[in-house]
Amino acid sequence: MKLGKITDYKYEGNKLTLDYEKGKANIYFITDEIVRFEIPYATDSYESIAVEGDKSLPCEFKVEKTADELSISGKKVNIKVMKDFAIEVTDKKGKVLMTDYTGDRTIRETISVKSMQQLEAEGHEAFGSIHGEYKVQNLKAIDKDDLFYGLGDKTGYLNKREYYFENWNSDIPLAHTEAVPALYKSIPFFICKKKDGVYGLFYDNTYHGYFDFGQENSSYFVYGADDGNLNYYYIHGESMAEIIKGYTYLTGRTPMPQLWTLGYHQCRWGYESAKDIRDVAYTMRENRIPCESVQYDIDYMDNFKVFTWDENFYEKKGKLMEELSKVGFKPVVIIDPGTKKEDGYFMYDEGVENDYFAKAADGSLYINKVWPGDSAFPDFGREDVRKWWAKSHKNLTDMGVMGVWNDMNEPASFEGPLPGDVVFHIGDRTTDHREVHNVYAHFMDMATFSGMKELTGKRPLVITRACYAGTQKYAAVWTGDNQSLWAHLQMLIPQLCSLGMSGFALLGTDIGGFGGTCNSELLCRWIQAAVFSPFFRNHAAKGTRNQEPWKFNKETTNIYRKYVELRYKFLPYIYDLFHECQETGLPIMRPLVLHYEDDENTYNLNDEFLVGENILVSPVVMQGATKKMVYLPKGTWYDYWTGEKLQGETYFIKDAPLGVCPIYIKEGSIIPTYESVQYVGEKPYDKLILLTTPGAGRYVHYQDNGEDYKYENGEYNLYEFTKSENGELSTNMLHEGYAKYNSIEVSELK
Ligand code: GLC
Repeated sequence: MKLGKITDYKYEGNKLTLDYEKGKANIYFITDEIVRFEIPYATDSYESIAVEGDKSLPCEFKVEKTADELSISGKKVNIKVMKDFAIEVTDKKGKVLMTDYTGDRTIRETISVKSMQQLEAEGHEAFGSIHGEYKVQNLKAIDKDDLFYGLGDKTGYLNKREYYFENWNSDIPLAHTEAVPALYKSIPFFICKKKDGVYGLFYDNTYHGYFDFGQENSSYFVYGADDGNLNYYYIHGESMAEIIKGYTYLTGRTPMPQLWTLGYHQCRWGYESAKDIRDVAYTMRENRIPCESVQYDIDYMDNFKVFTWDENFYEKKGKLMEELSKVGFKPVVIIDPGTKKEDGYFMYDEGVENDYFAKAADGSLYINKVWPGDSAFPDFGREDVRKWWAKSHKNLTDMGVMGVWNDMNEPASFEGPLPGDVVFHIGDRTTDHREVHNVYAHFMDMATFSGMKELTGKRPLVITRACYAGTQKYAAVWTGDNQSLWAHLQMLIPQLCSLGMSGFALLGTDIGGFGGTCNSELLCRWIQAAVFSPFFRNHAAKGTRNQEPWKFNKETTNIYRKYVELRYKFLPYIYDLFHECQETGLPIMRPLVLHYEDDENTYNLNDEFLVGENILVSPVVMQGATKKMVYLPKGTWYDYWTGEKLQGETYFIKDAPLGVCPIYIKEGSIIPTYESVQYVGEKPYDKLILLTTPGAGRYVHYQDNGEDYKYENGEYNLYEFTKSENGELSTNMLHEGYAKYNSIEVSELK
């Protein structure tokens, strides 16, 4: 519905209210850089789930009304508000950054009824370009050079231009290719990079959402949603990094993880007994492959009843966990939301008694099938339900569980999707599945996080499959059920980098692929490409080929060990990046475009990434390839393996036989490393080794106990290392509050 002309406006504090001929609209200055635009179609009292608390700061802006328009002049941006709530944002120099497209939608290709019938007859869909009008719709103009980044876990490539996506958390048991518009996560945030400018947009609306970045028509992009308000935050900044900082200021940042969670994890849906878990754990140690956890998939439960334990196959509760903890294994277990409908099962009984489960539209308990068969679905949007769920984790922590892996929380269901009218709540407000679907996992993760924090006093490891914008405050993510396909190994890079630009720092893919059949070459290349993915886990499905490296051959085991050890070496660097993320929101794995925005060669670089700013990884992701075309951006770089000095802004061919993953270190780097161990905690980390490259540099290193929240009370160290052109290194303590290293050594790469 078009709003027509502006008839009146008023403002109070940071809020501007506009009356239009046929409705109203609001503008909120959150900060000088972040402005929220709203047409309250559905509600006047929108409460964000992604944005917690009041983020608004005092802002200065002036408003002027001309005949048909309103001009707002802020500290960082100028905004023109026009007919139909069309918005134009310019920077202070007058450059137009974002502007609404005010024409009608014109579909690029139309299909005749006859052709449509033919397509349907053979079961085809009409691909691309034909999507309906949405109840909530927003069109913005696209310039010729605009590029689009972000949007969470979407398939395909870094740059989303000319692709179409949906936000509807989906468990798709097929190969995830760019033809699949929605996966498990809904993060309606993206960055538009222009020829000389950049902006971010966060469409905070939890209903089924749609994004068309110029596929329908190259002149505009379309955002749509099935219901709710038009509600978006414009985020201003001079660089993509500043946009990410603004977005994570709003929606929160990935908190400091425990150090061990950044180590290696082994998993398989198919370890069906204590014996299986024990065998894998001890074989890890025998093969000297560092490992933190052999994770417990659904089979550990009694009939898939959450918060139970199957003593028939997994021995007496707590016994196995205790035994393996003596050799450094930390127990991580899977939990699903679907709660088995069975009288006498405590979770079901408690849920029914207290009315904690979602209801069908007729008021009866809503039941669908998941692993345990008929199951009820906790109404996680309610605080009392979250508290109950959080407390239930005591059943796990009493056994020794240290990490929780939340799965199937789209929510997935086996007897068709949950109908739109299933009754849920957000706080005390009654609503339905259509609004809650995309935030169901978010609420579940909040519960798990607070339960584990309360029960253990440690920084919780919560791993989630589904999520919404802002879930990064509570959970790590993995990309769900990928497959042992080269295409999925290739997608790892853009997918993790896109999630990273969408606020998620702790993330990974199933190494080796979850479904399908892995082979030795694919596994070797996968462990290499994943070696810096913050969540570092090999996982495979039941019925697939075993994916532990020794199940292939000796060469695979050796290559695998080499990379897991490499990971342990760089643990303190990765940990530092999490520390940096508290301030900046920047991810650990970064696409090159994030730091080399002026270099066109980086705009569509899908097969390389940076780790922080100092390490560049260019993995081999093509079957059979033993050479890799590497692009190095501006500056001088050093080959990690050979020490060879290379000049950037050029492509070259690197020899990369099966055991070699091309890695480069930037000039002037000071990178903290540790000696590899079998698991975090095996020995005290009392020696720091600084890997340096020639050239002057400065680096700040963070150290704490890697476990709990004592750092919040000052129990940490901050070392500032400075290196002069001639290689002299000096250390300055910026903060001292924790036991310092016994020794700091320097190892120069040259
Ligand atoms: C889902 C998860 C997968 C898990 C399986 C069994 O498919 O994505 O990781 O192993 O369920 O729990």
